[in-house]
Amino acid sequence: MQQDQLQSLLAVLADGEYHSGSELGELLGVSRAAVWKHLQKLSELGIELDSSRGRGYCLPGGLELLSGAKIVECMGANAELLSLEILPLVDSTNTRLMSRAEQLPSGFVCVAEQQSAGRGRRGRAWVSPFARNLYFSLLWRFEGGAAELEGLSLAVGVCIAEALESLGIDGVSLKWPNDVLADGKKLAGILLEMSGDPAGACHLVIGVGINVDMASMQALDIDQPWIDVASLARAQGLAPISRNTLCARVLRNLWELLDEYPERGFAFWRERWMARAAYLNRSVRLVTSSQQTHGTLLGVDTSGALRLATDTGEQLVYGGEVSLRPES
Ligand code: BTN
Repeated sequence: MQQDQLQSLLAVLADGEYHSGSELGELLGVSRAAVWKHLQKLSELGIELDSSRGRGYCLPGGLELLSGAKIVECMGANAELLSLEILPLVDSTNTRLMSRAEQLPSGFVCVAEQQSAGRGRRGRAWVSPFARNLYFSLLWRFEGGAAELEGLSLAVGVCIAEALESLGIDGVSLKWPNDVLADGKKLAGILLEMSGDPAGACHLVIGVGINVDMASMQALDIDQPWIDVASLARAQGLAPISRNTLCARVLRNLWELLDEYPERGFAFWRERWMARAAYLNRSVRLVTSSQQTHGTLLGVDTSGALRLATDTGEQLVYGGEVSLRPES
């Protein structure tokens, strides 16, 4: 099915009302049989469709599609600097920006309704069903190489947590180095990738995935405890949160972060990270491929390194392929 026909079909059904097969056929300029095939494709994408004899087809509860106009409107300050691309389907927004990093302007953002090969940290897949969550990447150019980026991924977590809090969500915490949690479960993930000269002009791609309204069927593929914004909002008595508004809020915060990061560094963000630190002063286990270290989590230093109190004294951990777990 052609992507533009899929988009047109969804744009009509997004209102959550019933539309007859002939109405949809007329809108798309195709036969009713072709409409039926297109609707089947929606089901394959995991989009729940209701059909009723005599009334037609509807998406129960409607669907909020991504909208560049809404994102720009909600972003307010700096929106004019934003180059935004919205795609119905991409392999991975990070892969797309990494492969075009030389050509695209700094500040370019790619947002997708669905990723066919979404990537997480440590070689994991990032489950990315259609129109349920947020998947986007932002490209930024730095002149001073990797040294300027120390601690940046932690500060990105602060941007996401503060965006969620600005929409009324409570209880978001940050697990070192860059997991965003609620209720001890994964709410959002951050994937930073760099290309260019590690000692000079380089491109950074910041990939953000936020579980907004994950359908349980699609979540069967997630290999860790997870939670989404919709269930937090429900539990906290809030109205559903718009993906466009959330995307705009995170982008606004990221802009503030990136614009000044070479001058401010992580030290400027440290307290905000510490205020949300998961497992602070608790016993944790730091796991690498070859060893486990036990200790008490003291937080992070001004460079973003993890401070761990162990039997042999305080250890600083600077990142890499490590994972942090609470001792049960
Ligand atoms: C993690 O494992 O915690 C990081 C997940 C990052 C997922 C996002 S979704 C948008 C961007 N594109 C990708 O392929 N990955 C990142």
